Amino acid sequence: MKKSRETWGSNLGFILAATGSAIGLGNIWKFPYITGDYGGGAFVLVYLGCVLMIGLPLMVSELIIGRRAQKNPVKAFEKNHRAKSPWQSVGWLGMASGFLILSFYSVIAGWAMAFIFKSIKGFAGTPDQIQQQFVDLVVSPSDSIMWHTIFMVLVIAIVAGGIKGGIERWSKILMPTLFLLLLGLMFHGLFNTDGGMAALNFLFQPDFSRLTAEAVLSALGHAFFTLSLGMGAMITYGSYMKKDTGIVRDAILISFLDTFIALMAGVAIFSLVFHYGMEPGQSVGLIFKTLPVLFADTGPWVSVPFFVLLTFAALTSAISLLEVVVVYFIDEKGWSRIKTTLVAGILVYLFGILSAVASFTMPFRGSDQGFLDIFDFITTNYMLPVGGLLTCLYIGWVMKEKDIAEEFGSRGLPFQMLRLALRYLTPIGIALVLLHGLELLPFMEY
Ligand code: PHE
Repeated sequence: MKKSRETWGSNLGFILAATGSAIGLGNIWKFPYITGDYGGGAFVLVYLGCVLMIGLPLMVSELIIGRRAQKNPVKAFEKNHRAKSPWQSVGWLGMASGFLILSFYSVIAGWAMAFIFKSIKGFAGTPDQIQQQFVDLVVSPSDSIMWHTIFMVLVIAIVAGGIKGGIERWSKILMPTLFLLLLGLMFHGLFNTDGGMAALNFLFQPDFSRLTAEAVLSALGHAFFTLSLGMGAMITYGSYMKKDTGIVRDAILISFLDTFIALMAGVAIFSLVFHYGMEPGQSVGLIFKTLPVLFADTGPWVSVPFFVLLTFAALTSAISLLEVVVVYFIDEKGWSRIKTTLVAGILVYLFGILSAVASFTMPFRGSDQGFLDIFDFITTNYMLPVGGLLTCLYIGWVMKEKDIAEEFGSRGLPFQMLRLALRYLTPIGIALVLLHGLELLPFMEY
């Protein structure tokens, strides 16, 4: 006899786990550095618009698809549609995305862990010497692989514990801790440094003259990544939801918390950057190269919590990535959770070595690039948008309106607005990101 499928222990547990999936390296590493690169306020405003108009409708859609079917992302499309439905391919694509993202995500998360220990020792020396520490870590295959190994072991251990006993339990511990750490760091930035006001101005005073078309499209792509959309993570987490919880309210809360945390991280980081008179546009190195130079002054009281926070955030996202890969085999093949998690986790881990070794490169878009950058580029710019676009076309045009309305909870104005967004606004927005990713937008220069 088949065992009944696990569900979340409580709605709070679900919210924390889903927020944990959403809040990750995307919020604390990526959001601040792309905001810095694209000039601040105006970019932030466009990003908020994308979260509202694209992210939120898609989050509601994925949760509806998952909870309706109570199945993994592959079978969810079959159950909601029909046997052998071609829409199942959305689920397969999601599993592939989860696999690829986790393989490089774990390498970056490993760097975050390495920096906890570097922070405890303290950052000392000239700015160049401090920045060199990161370069040394990245180019040393043994160090990068070691941290990648440790991180993947943690991810596998949590996912092997199951929904309630693993993912939910750890999210309940890690997420509130993360929030408190970030709150402390933000207050430090606002009240202990001279950069607080400058950071707020940078983030919240839009200067539209600095807004480029590329920034707009990056904001859209980032909305996907940061909300864990387009790859079945929210379908999976939705499939463990009980029938009596309000999907829309939960989706609003998750999106709000994700955005709020990204903004808090922005305030915390840019207060330091401005306090020390640095430029905000530091690109990918903002967290691992620029901040440590500033941490040399602030000391471990600021840097240790910061990298612990980054590691926790990455961990709760990584478990959702592995869960998407694992749940299919548990549901469909009847494999035990522990065995499946081990096999899938080890495969992701081995594949991740490609990203961990900086000297492994491949020609990609006109230059030799490392696998980490290539996988990041392919998943964020192609795979997530394609997954998201198909999901939204499916729910907008194919899924039975009655089924959607039942999960949504009403047929009033909000429901009609969602339908309208999912049929037109959201797919067009996503198609733009995708065309940009393929360098096919006629009005852009590539
Ligand atoms: N949302 C996570 C972040 O911001 C990344 C992620 C993407 C997690 C897709 C799961 C699925 O870091």
